[in-house]
Amino acid sequence: MSLERALALVDAEPRHGYPNPTVGAVVVDAGGAIVGEGVSEPAGGRHAEVVALDAADDAGRGGTLFVTMEPCAHHGHTPPCVGRIVAAGVIRVVAACADPTEQASGGAAQLRRHGLEVELLDLPRARRQNEAWRTWAVRGRPHVLLKLAASLDGRVVVPGRRWVTGEAARRRVHELRSQVDAVAVGMGTVRADAPRLDVRDVAVERQPRRLAFGRGPLPDGSGLELRRGPLLAELEALGAAGVQSLLLEGGPTLATAFLEAGLVEQLLVFVAPVLSGDGPTMLGRLARPLDLASLELEQVGVDVLLTARLRED
Ligand SMILES: NC(=O)c1ccc[n+]([C@@H]2O[C@H](COP(=O)([O-])OP(=O)(O)OC[C@H]3O[C@@H](n4cnc5c(N)ncnc54)[C@H](OP(=O)(O)O)[C@@H]3O)[C@@H](O)[C@H]2O)c1
Repeated sequence: MSLERALALVDAEPRHGYPNPTVGAVVVDAGGAIVGEGVSEPAGGRHAEVVALDAADDAGRGGTLFVTMEPCAHHGHTPPCVGRIVAAGVIRVVAACADPTEQASGGAAQLRRHGLEVELLDLPRARRQNEAWRTWAVRGRPHVLLKLAASLDGRVVVPGRRWVTGEAARRRVHELRSQVDAVAVGMGTVRADAPRLDVRDVAVERQPRRLAFGRGPLPDGSGLELRRGPLLAELEALGAAGVQSLLLEGGPTLATAFLEAGLVEQLLVFVAPVLSGDGPTMLGRLARPLDLASLELEQVGVDVLLTARLRED
């Protein structure tokens, strides 16, 4: 129950610790009552464990700390959480997933060396709460979400129509844009549709960077950044500039190239209730079949959203 509470704290404020991972923590006393809880403070602030232990004060002594990610063992902007946990006198720590970075991992082992009982779990829900950060931290490039809108016969245009999907799906795309650091299309889409790629009609703290992959040229006043280099090199340059997440909005040529290069973590396909009958299909030819790690389904207005994960870090 307490671990569930820690996970729910993150669900309520998923980007609270950005650009650091957002972690939730709950301290329970020896009798099982919650005596402190917290979420990671924004960069440079306290880690969730420290927020929760500060709130618990001495009441956590002899109790348990539930945390959504393994406590850090390194000195970053703040001292390692391990020392603070040991000093607080909790005797047990339950962590919902490991820290994937070489730099900060090892917290569980250190706590054990200090005599604490540690349960290190591997809950997909906990990993997914920071999946963009995990990809970025492990691979040094943004987590890529490939979004496509298709007719039921798999085509990305419907003759005579401006949009493939309905209003609710298009609104969802704006929500997705508001949650990422960058949005991108290929130059073929720029030439065909001249998209703005900005966030409209939903609240946004800061607009994502808006990119076009290809040789260009960009039309005057497009507001997009042209990325001409090889895909991996461009993604690594974006990662080095702090871009943790990228929403790739097609079209089919660039989508296929990203998939072939192994650069997509998640596939979001909105399927519209229409048979287009003509036009390009969602993807070009792949050298070999790609197995998906998971496939989920959600109704969004008149459309259906299929979410597939290619891998999870
Ligand atoms: N329904 C949807 O979800 C959706 C989304 C987007 C677009 N569309 C539709 O798709 C059509 C455009 O499709 P498209 O396939 O031509 O456009 P695209 O995939 O957006 O762009 C293709 C271009 O990407 C650039 N590129 C950069 N790196 C590449 C690489 N490694 N490999 C291949 N290309 C690379 C090239 O630009 P350069 O030629 O400048 O080198 C290439 O011509 C339009 O009709 C548009 O309306 C539909």
